[in-house]
Amino acid sequence: MSSQITIALSKGRILKDTLPLLKAAGIELAEDPAKSRKLIIPTTHADVNLLIVRASDVPTYVEYGAADVGVAGKDVLLEHGSTELYEPLDLQIAQCKLMTAGKTGYEEPATGRVKVATKFVNVAKRYYASQGRQADIIKLYGSMELAPLVGLADIIIDVVDTGNTLRANGLEPRDLITDISSRLVVNKASMKVKFEAINALIQQLSAAVDAQT
Ligand code: ADP
Ligand code: PRP
Ligand code: MG
Repeated sequence: MSSQITIALSKGRILKDTLPLLKAAGIELAEDPAKSRKLIIPTTHADVNLLIVRASDVPTYVEYGAADVGVAGKDVLLEHGSTELYEPLDLQIAQCKLMTAGKTGYEEPATGRVKVATKFVNVAKRYYASQGRQADIIKLYGSMELAPLVGLADIIIDVVDTGNTLRANGLEPRDLITDISSRLVVNKASMKVKFEAINALIQQLSAAVDAQT
């Protein structure tokens, strides 16, 4: 690889699950982002740097070309809603489901407006429109599980993995909106200008994903 490549990803499960894939592609971190306060992390690969950003900001960095490549959950990509990003590879990490959930035993009235709390407001609007249901969508930034317990909403839309968080709060999963995993996203201009380097990275990551599954 001769071109410089900048990769945007978030700390936490995406970083943790992406590291082994990057390692298989010959890219290891030169510093531990858990210990460092740095947001630009050099790698053992002279031409590759990592940007540590908020999970929901990854599509923005890549869309504007501040990063060439990024790793983001499909939930975040659906909510961001950009047609300006290539999505060449399903990394099959951070797998979960985007679902509606409500209080255990709660019966939704067949008609009338439903109050829905979520950080995925765009996804929620599209989902209820597709169902032909009227919904009042309330934007939250986290702890969605609280909303039905305190009467803020009837229903939440959030990612569900084991279902433990729902159960711990007296909630149950209801309808599946879509299966989620993290995707490699690429800036369109970078894909043209740095084709060889980015294509090599995609091929190596793709092989690493196949080897892991
Ligand atoms: P955030 O700080 O935005 O919650 P996370 O690291 O928790 O960031 O989540 C990053 C991505 O991982 C999400 O966009 C989603 O695709 C996926 N994810 C979130 N929660 C879970 C979970 N409990 N199990 C598996 N994947 C998850
Ligand atoms: C995520 C998500 C749910 C939970 C679902 O939270 O927001 O609360 O995981 O997983 P489960 O079905 O296995 O319980 P996360 O662990 O990312 O914590 P966060 O609030 O810091 O995002
Ligand atoms: Mg989270």
